[in-house]
Amino acid sequence: MKYKKRILTIDKFINEALYNKKFGYYMNKNPFGKKGDFITAPNISVLFSEMIAIWIISFWENLKCPKKINLIELGSGNGSMMKEIINTFEKFPHIKKSCKIYIYEKSVYLKNIQKKNLKKKNIIWLKNLNKLPKNPNIFIANEFFDALPIKQFIKKNDKWYERNVEFFQPGKARILDILTNIKKLEKKVGFKISYKQKFIEFSPLANSYLKIISNKIKLYKGGLLIIDYGYLSEKMRNTLQSVLNHKYNKVLNNFGKADITHCINFNLIKKIINNFYLKSIGITSQEKFLTNLGILKRAEMISINLPFSKKADIYYRLKRLIDKNFMGKLFKVMFISKKNMNFKLGF
Ligand SMILES: C[S@@+](CC[C@H](N)C(=O)[O-])C[C@H]1O[C@@H](n2cnc3c(N)ncnc32)[C@H](O)[C@@H]1O
Repeated sequence: MKYKKRILTIDKFINEALYNKKFGYYMNKNPFGKKGDFITAPNISVLFSEMIAIWIISFWENLKCPKKINLIELGSGNGSMMKEIINTFEKFPHIKKSCKIYIYEKSVYLKNIQKKNLKKKNIIWLKNLNKLPKNPNIFIANEFFDALPIKQFIKKNDKWYERNVEFFQPGKARILDILTNIKKLEKKVGFKISYKQKFIEFSPLANSYLKIISNKIKLYKGGLLIIDYGYLSEKMRNTLQSVLNHKYNKVLNNFGKADITHCINFNLIKKIINNFYLKSIGITSQEKFLTNLGILKRAEMISINLPFSKKADIYYRLKRLIDKNFMGKLFKVMFISKKNMNFKLGF
């Protein structure tokens, strides 16, 4: 039988690789930790999640301690961050009482892991972000947006092409650029995304989440805290990357077996949310954010009476979070809220 060629836009290719119900990367295995393919900040050190918890409590206070507030984690992985946030809330009974906790997670496999790790914590797994009760919302997204599918567009000889993947033989794929009308994309996005660009990375899914989230924040107050790897420059570039067993993998190889991500262009997020009448209140490096929140002091406190080996482990993990050569510089933190927001803790 003749092989039937298949052509997928990059976002569809990523979506299949990561979320196909049968073989999708996030649908079948636990990608976190030593045995997985990568490790995220909450799985490196509890200090990370403690600082996020402190930030949430301070923001809630700045909002004048509303008696009902929704805390929503987007893409919770194995649930480590939420577990530690809830542990920290135990020492702050007022927020514990006021806060209704939600997780928005796509992977059924990871949802089950989260449910095991967060047993009896009174959490609601949300199916639809639109269904949140009408309270102020604090959205937290650690390494969420980088996991969403993106489209790619490339300019060649003054013409724009959309990037596709062509499966041309069993198990073999190659890049195929197809001529496109960039104005159609610009109409959808709502601004001239191609201005001064030669390459565009744009996630329609991120755009629609940001729209829902922005509307919620506009109507009921609150904010969105994004922690992710990415860059600040106006000029976009091809950042698509794949990881397998903690090593780089060619994006077209190991379809469904390897993670595929991209770097966030924070400047683009800023434009998108400006378009939805919100503002980037602050953007800084993970190092500065965590240091401003007092992570060094906290590390000192928890390690004070510990034996040397345990102390060394705490500081080694801390280094991975804040050192420029590890996550400190590449990872950025962005806080999005209403234009008149005066809360700047961490920035
Ligand atoms: C890179 S992991 C980060 C997990 C966690 N935040 C952490 O820091 O360990 C991305 C998470 O987002 C989830 N995710 C990806 N796309 C999603 C979507 N469209 N809706 C909800 N969750 C999604 C994944 O299943 C996974 O739990």
